[in-house]
Amino acid sequence: MKKHFFLSTVALFFTLVFSDISYAQAIYSYKKADPDGTGKWYMGREIAHVMSHYGIGWLERSEREEEERTSMLLKNLGLKQGEVVADIGAGSGYHAVRMAPMVAPAGKIMAIDIQEEMLEFIRQRSKKLNLTNIQPVLGSEQSLELTPSSVDKMLLVDVYHEFSFPREMGLSMFRTLKPGGRIFLGGRIFLIEFRAEDPDVPIKRLHKMTETQAKRELEAVGFVFEKNLDNLPWQHCLIFRKP
Ligand SMILES: C[S@@+](CC[C@H](N)C(=O)[O-])C[C@H]1O[C@@H](n2cnc3c(N)ncnc32)[C@H](O)[C@@H]1O
Repeated sequence: MKKHFFLSTVALFFTLVFSDISYAQAIYSYKKADPDGTGKWYMGREIAHVMSHYGIGWLERSEREEEERTSMLLKNLGLKQGEVVADIGAGSGYHAVRMAPMVAPAGKIMAIDIQEEMLEFIRQRSKKLNLTNIQPVLGSEQSLELTPSSVDKMLLVDVYHEFSFPREMGLSMFRTLKPGGRIFLGGRIFLIEFRAEDPDVPIKRLHKMTETQAKRELEAVGFVFEKNLDNLPWQHCLIFRKP
């Protein structure tokens, strides 16, 4: 009897392990990599490499406002005092430090990144600027590591295309966002990506995305597409809602 129980437990264990592996293989496929790519594909798109913290100078370049119209981008979010905003892939905190005063004093910015060097840069910067409502969070490649239904809005600037596990990250975002009504502008994701439809946008191909591709991937994890604000010089500003 005991032996029978032991064998069935072992069989169940291997079934679960192998079904998990084949599930992951079905989601992602692997091909020879583009020089800017990882060789890992998801829903017809090759995933790009993660930008290293050595690129902080580029994120903080003085031409950024002119090239990306970042002040308009932040207006698009319609931030209100008291809101909790997740800046996913916060990098040097370019957007986080600008958003923090907009939601203060009760609101806060969860600045999430997978590179500790980026988070340390944000800590030092917040201290210098005397901003007390930015919370740096070390995420993982597959999860935001935040409490479910704890965030009003999410901002993703130039990061989604480099998620190594876009499906897992999408599901984690879905769990973490509060549901959003049709009128009240909460429970929203603002996905900012360089426009792949436009050959004049001077960014490497794998670091751009089309609107169609972004919709395909976020709808696959449950988000509802609302609109593309289409008011930035080089980027899409795509809004998705958690129903
Ligand atoms: C190109 S930078 C953009 C930084 C910032 N959003 C900006 O526009 O200034 C992308 C950042 O996303 C981070 N990143 C990549 N994958 C991530 C993940 N799964 N979760 C959180 N951050 C991630 C990288 O470490 C990097 O700091």
